[in-house]
Amino acid sequence: MRMALLRAIAVSLSVAGTSALPYHASLKRQVSELRPDYDFIIVGGGTSGLTVADRLSKAFPKKSVLVVEYGAIEYAPGVFDPPTLWTQSDPNAVSRWSFNSLPNPEVDNHTAFIAIGKTVGGSSAANGMFFDRGSRFDYDAWTEVGGPELRPSKIKWNWNGMIAYFKKSVTFTEPPPAIAQKYGYTWDVSGAYGGTTPIFSSYPPFQWGDQPVLRETWEEMGLEPRRECAGGDKEGICWVPTSEDPITARRSHSGLGHYAAVQPRSNYDLLVKHQVVRVVYPKGLKAKSGPPLVVVRSVSDAGQQFNVTAKAEVIISAGAFHTPTVLLRSGIGPASYLRAAGVPTLIDLPGVGSNLQDHSGPGVFWNYTKPGNFSPLPHDMLDPTFKADATTGFNQVPARGPYTLSMGNSAIYVSLPHVAPATYRDLVAKIRRLATVGNTAASYLPPDTDPSVVAGYKDQLQTLANLFANAEAPSLETPWAESGGSALAFHLHPLSRGTVRLDPGDHLAQPILDYRMLSNPLDLDLHLAHLRFLRKLLDTPTMRRYGAVELAPGPAVAATDDALRAYIRQTMILSFQHPCCTAPMLTRAKGGVVGPDLKVHGTPGGLRVADMSIAPLLIGSHLSATAYAVGEKAADIIIEEWSKPGH
Ligand SMILES: Cc1cc2nc3c(=O)[nH]c(=O)nc-3n(C[C@H](O)[C@H](O)[C@H](O)COP(=O)(O)OP(=O)(O)OC[C@H]3O[C@@H](n4cnc5c(N)ncnc54)[C@H](O)[C@@H]3O)c2cc1C
Ligand SMILES: *[C@@H]1O[C@H](CO)[C@@H](O)[C@H](O)[C@H]1NC(C)=O
Ligand SMILES: *[C@@H]1O[C@H](CO)[C@@H](O)[C@H](O)[C@H]1NC(C)=O
Ligand SMILES: *[C@@H]1O[C@H](CO)[C@@H](O)[C@H](O)[C@H]1NC(C)=O
Repeated sequence: MRMALLRAIAVSLSVAGTSALPYHASLKRQVSELRPDYDFIIVGGGTSGLTVADRLSKAFPKKSVLVVEYGAIEYAPGVFDPPTLWTQSDPNAVSRWSFNSLPNPEVDNHTAFIAIGKTVGGSSAANGMFFDRGSRFDYDAWTEVGGPELRPSKIKWNWNGMIAYFKKSVTFTEPPPAIAQKYGYTWDVSGAYGGTTPIFSSYPPFQWGDQPVLRETWEEMGLEPRRECAGGDKEGICWVPTSEDPITARRSHSGLGHYAAVQPRSNYDLLVKHQVVRVVYPKGLKAKSGPPLVVVRSVSDAGQQFNVTAKAEVIISAGAFHTPTVLLRSGIGPASYLRAAGVPTLIDLPGVGSNLQDHSGPGVFWNYTKPGNFSPLPHDMLDPTFKADATTGFNQVPARGPYTLSMGNSAIYVSLPHVAPATYRDLVAKIRRLATVGNTAASYLPPDTDPSVVAGYKDQLQTLANLFANAEAPSLETPWAESGGSALAFHLHPLSRGTVRLDPGDHLAQPILDYRMLSNPLDLDLHLAHLRFLRKLLDTPTMRRYGAVELAPGPAVAATDDALRAYIRQTMILSFQHPCCTAPMLTRAKGGVVGPDLKVHGTPGGLRVADMSIAPLLIGSHLSATAYAVGEKAADIIIEEWSKPGH
């Protein structure tokens, strides 16, 4: 069962094509090809990083921008993948890093499996292309959790401060009327879209034949279809667009939209297959010492390290796993940890690499004993004629057929008051008590956690209690990825916190991830509430009509809460591939790493973080749309600062 689950997830991971992006003069492969110095250096050519690079190089034609990317450009998909790879996925593809977390004691020592992007485009070039946004309450929580100290900042990361960047960050294309009518797609351009950036959000011209079944089921469960779910409100049944070109249905990612599409631009260089080792403030941390320099090494020719000089700023956008590694190797992190790791401390910043969060959860699985007369269904791909036509269709302009569909386009988002009307108050009260009474919260964090991080965690619990009490703030997501037979319960707002640390044997190797899922035991109660709710889908007229039989957890297991808890521990998927929050935007006294201007605390300036590690709390959606918006907002903040007289 577990392997089957992992494989189901892996399908959504999608795949790496071998088609190259067009080459440009500004593509650099060796340090010797670089300019003597750059105004801005961006660490990591991923989702947020390339967004920042594109915007800065456009806004400042006379300033130079360098992106340093660990991965190769050859494996950045220029197209969405050879169709044969649609149902297969190689987690060890060269365009990805695959990780197994440390054994997680609370879940029978299982490990989380995560495969993140290692190519130009980062995880946007390797993800499942499900292109949703959090609810307004998710971003409002980012501001709320910052507390009164961050609230006066004129830079707002709440929904009202983010919506303009969400809109700007993508081009949404309305599906043709015939397609919209056939599948029932709905949307609201003025509430959610309006941008013209070449990052595409589209609805595919295809759905499997049984698509309406689960939508009917959900309606029978009392959930309401929403016209648009990207405009801040998403409690209910949602259509979710795909990050793909509206005509060719090929993957849209930051490597295409924010690099290839804007080249040539003479001030925008990209150095591939180089790892940023650390940043160094050669003149120390005095007010006027300027930005740090960036130490890089070639990935293929490891060993020699080179300095690259930044004149204005360094922006770290290496993603939630690697941004902390760059900071830690630079001596920016928890002093006690750095001492033990043998890295001289530059800034004691206990929050670096703490606060790791991800979506996780168990599933409900069933079989239909009275199959409906649906066509087409995924097993039709086994028919050579059907499959050949799918390939032909995918290569037509406009593209058509099954290969235009990535993960699916539907999901339900349900708040805790709707998931568990009878018990949610009790759960919320328990979370609040944890936040306010005694020191039990600290005992759920790693033993060496700094008091500042504990204080921030208690604030987070308080904010999360507010979210869980809000009937319009979803706590459960179930995406309907493929037809029939399974529904996964994404726990959108976990209470447990993991860590990212350097490999003690080799600081330049991949980091050690300790997911610590269920280390806060209330997470198990939340999973239980979600699972009990989700099982009700089998008790609807539609499911009965098709003779749906629950295979797991099954009525016997569901008879007691304890048996269901054991089922969750044994079968839950520990990562739905949404790691975040490891350099959180909080005050230094609360374990924060950056402020609302994204500057790293304790530096004299010249060093910011812009990627999904800056989120203090995980959002109730997949992350790529937010990673783009974070990049857009970061770019605006930096552009405003460098447009001031005197710069
Ligand atoms: C398998 C998978 C499936 C997903 N599915 C979806 C989905 O369907 N929908 C969705 O919205 N989201 C999905 N996500 C999540 C989403 O894609 C990511 O959270 C988001 O793209 C992260 O953006 P980022 O800018 O923070 O980091 P990334 O886009 O990962 O960029 C980080 C970049 O930094 C580079 N880098 C790292 N370290 C260094 C270094 N030391 N020096 C130089 N470069 C470095 C990396 O190679 C990478 O290119 C998925 C993620 C994965 C991994
Ligand atoms: C998990 O691993 C630890 C350390 O190896 C071991 O002590 C413990 O018994 C294991 N737990 C389970 C449930 O296997
Ligand atoms: C890089 O810069 C650091 C700090 O100024 C210096 O100590 C080191 O020697 C430089 N390395 C190279 C290869 O120039
Ligand atoms: C589910 O149904 C299919 C088709 O009827 C059958 O082949 C399969 O064995 C069933 N699986 C289980 C676990 O009962």
